Amino acid sequence: MSGQTFEVFTLFPEAVAGFLRGGLVGKAVARELVSVHCTDYREFATDRYRTVDDAPYGGSPGMVMKIEPVVAALEHVTRERGPMHRILLTPAGPRFDQRVAERLATVPRIGLLCGRYEGIDDRVREHFVDECLSIGDFVLNGGEVAALAIIEAVARLREGVLGNPESAARDSFSLQDMSSETCPEDHGAWLEHPHFTRPPDFRGLGVPDVLLAGAHAEVARWRREQAWRRTWALRPDLRPQRSLPAGAPVYLVAQFGQGEKDMSERSALLAALAAAASAGGAELRVVAPGRASDLGDVPRAAQFRSLKDLARELRRRHGAAPRLVALGPADGLPLARGAAPLLDLLAASGTGDLSAPLVLVLACAGTGDLARPVTNAPGAASAPSSTGLRGLEAAFSPVILQASKLAAGLAETTPMNDSSGPQPVEAAARLVADALAELKTCRSTRPSELRHEQQ
Ligand code: ADE
Repeated sequence: MSGQTFEVFTLFPEAVAGFLRGGLVGKAVARELVSVHCTDYREFATDRYRTVDDAPYGGSPGMVMKIEPVVAALEHVTRERGPMHRILLTPAGPRFDQRVAERLATVPRIGLLCGRYEGIDDRVREHFVDECLSIGDFVLNGGEVAALAIIEAVARLREGVLGNPESAARDSFSLQDMSSETCPEDHGAWLEHPHFTRPPDFRGLGVPDVLLAGAHAEVARWRREQAWRRTWALRPDLRPQRSLPAGAPVYLVAQFGQGEKDMSERSALLAALAAAASAGGAELRVVAPGRASDLGDVPRAAQFRSLKDLARELRRRHGAAPRLVALGPADGLPLARGAAPLLDLLAASGTGDLSAPLVLVLACAGTGDLARPVTNAPGAASAPSSTGLRGLEAAFSPVILQASKLAAGLAETTPMNDSSGPQPVEAAARLVADALAELKTCRSTRPSELRHEQQ
């Protein structure tokens, strides 16, 4: 790839050139990977005072940059060094971001027009530039800082500019960060995971153990999780918009343990769940180790003795390993923010396929395959899923292994048949109805939208 040229039009050519002499851009210039020319509008003023500004028509405070020196400078540079993609820097432009940087990195010659005062005569924007860009919703005294930001962001994407080409691919906002197969049409991205370096302890502040242990796959998994968590916490607007394929099967599983007592409560719960499932586009399945006759109206074909049996049946029926999520009413956890984080979890979990059957498990008792979660125990927030889901991980596709780890809090399931009080049938039904309704809003409607589901 041959070098890229930036033509900067400014009233402060020395300030711009001075900054660009340092750092990686300076090195890239020295190695002729990038070149930067600065052109002073004032050179193209025609009066003896080299005037470049004038009072605005219609009257108002401040001055406006005149059109003649700006256009003369553009035409001169075009004649001398060739045409360029012309960009006017203005707070009124569309926002510059990593996607724009990636696009501009493919453009061989870029002209950056910096305004000063109240801006440049608007006829320049209308007739002499190809696009406008802003670096944020704030007003600078001129476009120079914006031009420098753009040059740095674009140049570092050019081949050879960064020492390690992988660095750019891992950056925050880079689409490759979470999955190399992420589809760019999603217009989404992840913030980068955090970085640490020596010393391992600074005034009692440690470094995550997983990084010190140096197990490659574990580190990669931890980084993915961190990127996922950070993006959700800090910039949820950035994340790729995933959708559940229109026809993706969703199952609601009511899971009972051994030795259930009150059968009338159980029937009431099942009736409520059946209604919620049917309204939410899911099929109800029941997992209970007891006798089939104990499950009242639930058809035999919908009853399973263990999650393992259910998983086997779903794999046979759909030709894909089911992915499983425990439902629980835990505050501030991903599910409380809707189904979208849940889809992220599944898709980000490595080999997840969002068109595979999705199984929402509601633990209706504290026994059985799903161990009773350690709610409110010290440290429970950091490790409930690994204990709570062990049985489930064994029963379902290995995909869930990772998703369940990511879903630490999500998996924290409150048993619905706790002996400590009456069975909260309504609460369970509401929880299920909410989860299914959320999932429904995440369903794509057209098969052509079934992108990004394969990872
Ligand atoms: N000129 C002044 N403010 C600006 C901004 N926010 N972005 C680009 N150019 C500017």
